[in-house]
Amino acid sequence: MSANPSTPTGDLKGLVLSGGAGTRLRPITHTSAKQLVPVANKPVLFYGLEAMHAAGIREVGIIVGDTEDEIREAVGDGSQFGLEVEYIRQDEPLGLAHAVLTAEEYLGDAPFLMYLGDNLLRDGLTALVDRFRSERPDALILLTEVEDPRSYGVARLDGDAVVELVEKPTDPPSNLALVGAYVFTSEIHDAARSIAPSGRGELEITDAIQHLIDAGRTVSFDRVGGWWKDTGKLADMLHANRLILDLFEDRIEGTIGEDVVLEGRVVVEEGALLERCRVRGPAIIGRDTVVRDAYVGPYTSIYWGCTVEDAEVEHSIILEQTTVRSLPARLTDSLLGKDVTIEGDTAGRGRSLQLMVGDSSLVRI
Ligand code: DAU
Repeated sequence: MSANPSTPTGDLKGLVLSGGAGTRLRPITHTSAKQLVPVANKPVLFYGLEAMHAAGIREVGIIVGDTEDEIREAVGDGSQFGLEVEYIRQDEPLGLAHAVLTAEEYLGDAPFLMYLGDNLLRDGLTALVDRFRSERPDALILLTEVEDPRSYGVARLDGDAVVELVEKPTDPPSNLALVGAYVFTSEIHDAARSIAPSGRGELEITDAIQHLIDAGRTVSFDRVGGWWKDTGKLADMLHANRLILDLFEDRIEGTIGEDVVLEGRVVVEEGALLERCRVRGPAIIGRDTVVRDAYVGPYTSIYWGCTVEDAEVEHSIILEQTTVRSLPARLTDSLLGKDVTIEGDTAGRGRSLQLMVGDSSLVRI
């Protein structure tokens, strides 16, 4: 998703935050890491790791919590991304600045790019990293205008200077939200040590950066080019899926059987089988997935090993090895976990059905 790769240099490390509880995507995140939910059939976290590589970063520490095993299994030693990955355990999600302190030994004196593992940036991280390399401020943050800044860190500017940062303010001083990509020098460690937990009990990175500002350090900012998504909520996850599917070209690697109509840009991955169905893109049908006697509508991502039979699905994300069969209504705006079975009786077909179902569930309609 990034522009041309920068020259790799060993000076800047990466720190990806993939701990945390993911309460807003429950029930999916009761059993899985929110950073591994696939967007257009690729885990969110992978986009960030690819963008780090494209920005010339090679050594990456990943902060992990309760979902450590799952993240280790998906990312491994990082070689699939051209990275050397190490895992750093944070026993409790006590805040972004706490995560930085947890990684202090790994980071040493190196400047580093900190990236929140549930964020997605269309244009990647290269411009931000290049700017840091050429200007070398003490911290570089990334900002973008949002409609409702109350659920983000918010920055107040005075001309070109960042003067104030507040975390999730009820009365925001501007509409400029902090995006989950920051470049820091090792100055941030002392700043993180100097702050107290916020009202919600977390060591906030916004407070640590404010501490740098108050100490007279140079805190610069850049604005997001392209789009940015924090995929922490269902609606944002579905929106990210739309944005990424819009960037796809059609590609057919699976088997197209009899009576299949493909409209628009459709990706059918290897081993997938389509029979007697209509798929209206943009949509992606994953590896070894079967779609039979069905309709798959725009902005749908169906991951690997799924079955969609005698059913209609649109504008949804379906995780691996899930079965959707004989639905009485069209499934729409939904997120289904892995290994879920949704089955019903098509006799009384109604209008639509919206579901968010965690892993290993059975729903009969
Ligand atoms: O997405 C941008 C926003 O991210 C910023 O505008 C906010 O200033 C920043 O605080 C952060 O807010 P969120 O409420 O979205 O953060 P969340 O708790 O979702 O955590 C972001 C990522 O960091 C997520 O992948 C989980 C991970 N994390 C979080 C905490 C609190 C950790 O690894 N350790 C932690 O202690």
